[in-house]
Amino acid sequence: MSGHGTPIPMTSRPCGPLQGEANVPGDKSISHRSLILGAMSVGETKISGLLEGEDVLDTGKAMAAFGAEVINHGGGNWSVHGVGVGGFAEPDNVIDCGNSGTGVRLIMGAMATCDITVTFTGDASLNGRPMARVTDPIALFGAQAVGRAGGRLPMTIVGAKDPTPVRYEVPMPSAQVKSAVLLAGLNAPGQTVVIEKEATRDHTERMLAGFGAEISVEQTDEGRVITLTGQPELKPQVIAVPRDPSSAAFPVCAAVITPGSDVLVPNIGLNPTRAGLFTTLREMGADLTYENEREEGGEPVADLRAKFSPDLKGIEVDPARAASMIDEYPVLSVVASFAQGETVMRGVKELRVKESDRIDAMATGLRLNGVEVDEGDDWWIVKGLGHGNVPGGATCASHLDHRIAMSFMVMGMAARSPVSVDDGSPIATSFPIFEPLMAGLGADVVRG
Ligand code: S3P
Repeated sequence: MSGHGTPIPMTSRPCGPLQGEANVPGDKSISHRSLILGAMSVGETKISGLLEGEDVLDTGKAMAAFGAEVINHGGGNWSVHGVGVGGFAEPDNVIDCGNSGTGVRLIMGAMATCDITVTFTGDASLNGRPMARVTDPIALFGAQAVGRAGGRLPMTIVGAKDPTPVRYEVPMPSAQVKSAVLLAGLNAPGQTVVIEKEATRDHTERMLAGFGAEISVEQTDEGRVITLTGQPELKPQVIAVPRDPSSAAFPVCAAVITPGSDVLVPNIGLNPTRAGLFTTLREMGADLTYENEREEGGEPVADLRAKFSPDLKGIEVDPARAASMIDEYPVLSVVASFAQGETVMRGVKELRVKESDRIDAMATGLRLNGVEVDEGDDWWIVKGLGHGNVPGGATCASHLDHRIAMSFMVMGMAARSPVSVDDGSPIATSFPIFEPLMAGLGADVVRG
């Protein structure tokens, strides 16, 4: 778990060109889902390339507490012997999901239609995040939730004894909520229908189909309508987790702003529901190319080559793209600081309820480092200074948020003066090899 240990201050100093190959870890979203769906299937699911970050490890521990056999074979190879849909046992103790919103929300969904009672908690960041977005829809299945004021963790969920299927329109663009409802629908008889107005990452739908569930997706005037038939027997799978585009974002953006850089980031999933940052960077004039484009496990994949891009320009980011790059706005705001002119980001209210209020955390840190930012409830504008003109020199608060910490480390690589964060320990939740990987490319990131 992050946020319970000693803070790790970190500093990133301006560095020479970043060069070489960046082999980023497995996809966080797919790793969580592999463990959870593996635990809900009958038999042994084999997973390679699992992200061994704290968030995912906490989900693995939770699945073991629910009765699945979760085994680490080393080198990113794991197996999960599942207990079947509806087969979760009541855990003996509180389930601690650490820093992970994805972990807790997906697991709440998965257990909501089982006849068990579970208490969930997390670190200070997770315990401050809204859970009503999941407890509202699972109540429709018959589950009950009792938590702290404002629908916060710690929280106890009493699963539905006789779940009924639901039809639910997700009120905000959230793959976690969509997924929680679908996972709850697995143990409800009949058809559960989930509607999302804007498409969000579709890993749950793809993986449910892979595990043998009957699931269909239709694009209608209402939005994406997903229909799942409950109480299937999920068949165990062999899963090769692709590398995480959200982690690739950090070496890619670092290369784009650091003079002389040329970095290859191999094997990155370019699922259109995840790849919005790369389209945006190209629109800003980044020298980013896709090499060796191919398909793997039903997902588009390419090797990304990112080179220093001296003539970046600020743009208005298409709000329709927000869901496909929601985790990448923090590091995009860093790139925007090195562009000429304003980068306008709208339709991004969800950034305020992530591991931190990411608009506030980034705007405050960027200002401390000499970059002007305007912000409103669901928009922000970064006033780029152009390459070579970003002062840096400040220490920023990471607010227990891995992506805030890594974004400021990227900023320090190309600013005039070093950039520090008060606590880089949350980086271990999603990108445990960030420091050696960036050092291997030539970055000067140190603890202290
Ligand atoms: C995720 C969904 C997104 C994203 C998170 C991972 C997922 O959260 O920010 O990092 O794996 O479903 P929201 O559902 O809150 O948008």
